[in-house]
Amino acid sequence: MDRIRIVGGNALNGEIEISGAKNAALPLMIAALLTDEPVTLLNVPRLADVKQLERILENHGVDIAVHGRRRGDREMGGQRLTITAGDIVDTTAPYELVAKMRASFWVIGPLLAREGQARVSLPGGCAIGTRPVDFYLEGLRALGAQIDIDGGYVVAAAPGGRLKGATVAFPRVSVGATHVVMMAASLADGTTVIENAAREPEVGNLADCLVSMGAKISGIGTDRLVIEGVERLHGTSHEVLPDRIETGTYAMAAAMTGGDVLLRGARGDLLQAALDSLGEVGVTVSHETEGLRIKRNGNGLTAIDVETQPFPGFPTDLQAQFMALMTRANGTSAIKETIFENRFMHVAELARFGADIHVDGQTATVRGVPELKGAQVMATDLRASVSLVIAGLAARGETVVNRIYHLDRGFERLEDKLSRCGAEIERVTG
Ligand code: UD1
Repeated sequence: MDRIRIVGGNALNGEIEISGAKNAALPLMIAALLTDEPVTLLNVPRLADVKQLERILENHGVDIAVHGRRRGDREMGGQRLTITAGDIVDTTAPYELVAKMRASFWVIGPLLAREGQARVSLPGGCAIGTRPVDFYLEGLRALGAQIDIDGGYVVAAAPGGRLKGATVAFPRVSVGATHVVMMAASLADGTTVIENAAREPEVGNLADCLVSMGAKISGIGTDRLVIEGVERLHGTSHEVLPDRIETGTYAMAAAMTGGDVLLRGARGDLLQAALDSLGEVGVTVSHETEGLRIKRNGNGLTAIDVETQPFPGFPTDLQAQFMALMTRANGTSAIKETIFENRFMHVAELARFGADIHVDGQTATVRGVPELKGAQVMATDLRASVSLVIAGLAARGETVVNRIYHLDRGFERLEDKLSRCGAEIERVTG
């Protein structure tokens, strides 16, 4: 199994190209199931999760073409995929494929809406809490679906072959359930209202794509989406948003090591809460035409408290990285996780660097220490893994991060991007 080896202590200076967002690319790829015409996606990141979803879509009968670089494309730009679901040959998404990545469960929405039936394995994915699917099932039931759980599969059918518009009020904000109900409703008979919809930018990116496919959606960007179902959707071409979590991760890495880094292609409006927190910590964030510039020259880090919240609040997907940063801050920081109940697995690993962290329920209290020391650590989930890389970049001596397949799920060319900015980091294979 591959490992990442880091020798800490170097400041980051230079440029990092921000990739397309994994969490936007995945639902956009799934949305291609809603039409028999080609959907071309631009700026798709090269990630293990994207590859895995390609396998799942291919199993449904979808053709996927990867286009080569065109004149004028950036050297490290994202890939262009054309996804054509001409004929859906199989409405089952099997356990072997779905268990590896939770988002693949989302195929249930388009399959049910277009084919009137779906049989989808209950999902797996990162071990960051129980992550049930009750909101999805309640939402689809509200649209008229009959749903059974049989042998670990959700078996869903739309009576008469078509879902019916309805009001769906989610008890709490769910990104995935919003994606699924929005996709399903776009082909339903009648109007659907989603109350308490997720406002994450990736939901807006999907909604815009659906509109360009002929869907009628209003309230995009708000917590109330109104979707007037149409009989069919058509092909389109759509660009994946820049990855706000990758942006925030590298911003925190630069904050941790000091230095001056331009995050090329990053959009500050997608992560304002996290940037505001970095500002309070003592980092200079400037919005430039080419992206975001993150600077910390010499001055120390100030400990502050943060609480994760649905967008536009501080994202749970940056909690682990922020905790790594706070291990070196002056003072004590309280970090409260309100989205997932078991998302502190990185705490034990950060302790191996000498971090002082105490968890009580949903809150981790981090007392800044003057120095971290390199260590052997283990990646546990996607975002937690990268928090260990951030700690390693600032730690004295050598760090080895084991089990890095989690990193490859969500971070494109991580070691390459960081080493170009002066970090001593490499992948050790085998
Ligand atoms: C998505 C993101 C993930 C991010 C999360 C929250 C993708 C591929 N993943 O995950 O990176 O951390 O949003 O921003 O985009 N819940 C239920 N019942 C349900 C559905 C959700 O109780 O049926 C709960 C979850 O357990 C969690 C909360 O709702 O506590 C939010 O989860 P949700 O927004 O659904 O996360 P995902 O869409 O899985």
